[in-house]
Amino acid sequence: MPVKYQKPRGTADALPEQSAAFRNIEEIFSAEAQLAGFGQIRVPTFEKTALFARSSGETSDVVSKEMYTFTDRGGEDLTLLPEGTAGVVRAFLENGLAGEALPRKLFYFTPCFRYNRPQAGRLREFHQVGFEIFGADSFLAEAELIAMVNRALKQIGIGDAVTTKLNSIGCRECRGEYKKALVAYFEQHKDTLCETCNERLYKNPMRILDCKSPECKTVAKGAPVITDYLCAGCKEHFNALCALLTDLGVNYQLDAGIVRGLDYYNGPVFEFVTDQLGAQDAVGGGGRYDGLVEELGGQPTPALGFAMGIERMALLAEKCGCKFPKPDAGRLFIIPVGDETRPRCALLADAVKAAGISCQAELSTRSLKSSMRYANKAGFDFTLILGEDEVKTGRFILKDMKNDRELSVGGESELIAVLK
Ligand code: HAM
Repeated sequence: MPVKYQKPRGTADALPEQSAAFRNIEEIFSAEAQLAGFGQIRVPTFEKTALFARSSGETSDVVSKEMYTFTDRGGEDLTLLPEGTAGVVRAFLENGLAGEALPRKLFYFTPCFRYNRPQAGRLREFHQVGFEIFGADSFLAEAELIAMVNRALKQIGIGDAVTTKLNSIGCRECRGEYKKALVAYFEQHKDTLCETCNERLYKNPMRILDCKSPECKTVAKGAPVITDYLCAGCKEHFNALCALLTDLGVNYQLDAGIVRGLDYYNGPVFEFVTDQLGAQDAVGGGGRYDGLVEELGGQPTPALGFAMGIERMALLAEKCGCKFPKPDAGRLFIIPVGDETRPRCALLADAVKAAGISCQAELSTRSLKSSMRYANKAGFDFTLILGEDEVKTGRFILKDMKNDRELSVGGESELIAVLK
């Protein structure tokens, strides 16, 4: 029979094996969060559309081309999160966290939605783990985040496949001079630049440095670099960060082409890239966004953060041959013989689970032989056949499926003790 419904383009199902990889990644980042004092925040999956235009920038690809925007039945203009930072900043302000002790460290897992052309590693619905710090102006904050990502990637098993790329895009002052120099340079190459980059030329020339078209990439290679235009403050901050990262043993590369695709950044920005995922080479990225809290209505608050793509990390882990613990079927499978013992199976299974041991009772009314075949295939450690005799005598035969042997156990508590 043909499959009637298919998932929307650019979305993915994660079956239990993939979910195990995702969970493993999430657990590693959660443990890192705990170690560094980040509290988990959960924010809505949609926000008012204006929030993203205000934060990510009207000219960014994300806002201008990729948002899932809709009007709800009440006429409200809403957008599914294209990224996590804007919602977290909104929540930080709305819930009065800005008035509490700072720095405040928050982390989150969130689905994100971007309408782009799906390809390997690029989805329309994907998931991010993100970390944000509010009220931290020292370079120690960037170093802590970058070192944390490197530690987490190593634990996942993809540390060697990922390079940390680092740049500083300066503050508003240094960027003003730099943008002038960039426009002057790109104006000389207008004919070579793609159509989109010609549109970007006066609105957002730094984005040209990030263009994937081969012609634009070649032109961008000769462009002035921002690090030559940094003011004394930005230069000092960036140099101190680089020195500290070296002392922390973080392997990083300076890359003037890292300009980030969202408009809220200033100062140090970074990306975690791999050469193993084709065009979608960034497994994560972030940077400082000192102006965003104020832009969204708060007091000037230095802030920074990063987000990692969970699917991309899982994909890379698969390519690197990382093994994640597979979800196992369970310790015990209980099979009834005859309909009378069925409820007893449920009671026994309930008692075993209450003791913290994974256990399932047969839920289907198939033959004993089919039940055994299923237990074998599913990979249970033990099976127990419950017939009239077992109910009467209170003794069970426990079949050890992995070692092909049988054990006789007397009653529920002995069964639990043996399984433990
Ligand atoms: P971003 O670089 O736009 O940054 O996204 C972070 C990561 O999300 C990317 O490096 C990538 O792994 C993943 N990602 C992005 N788009 C897709 C997609 N279409 N399919 C699969 N994965 C994708 C941000 O979102 C910023 N909010 C990061 C940040 C947090 N900056 C400061 N704080």
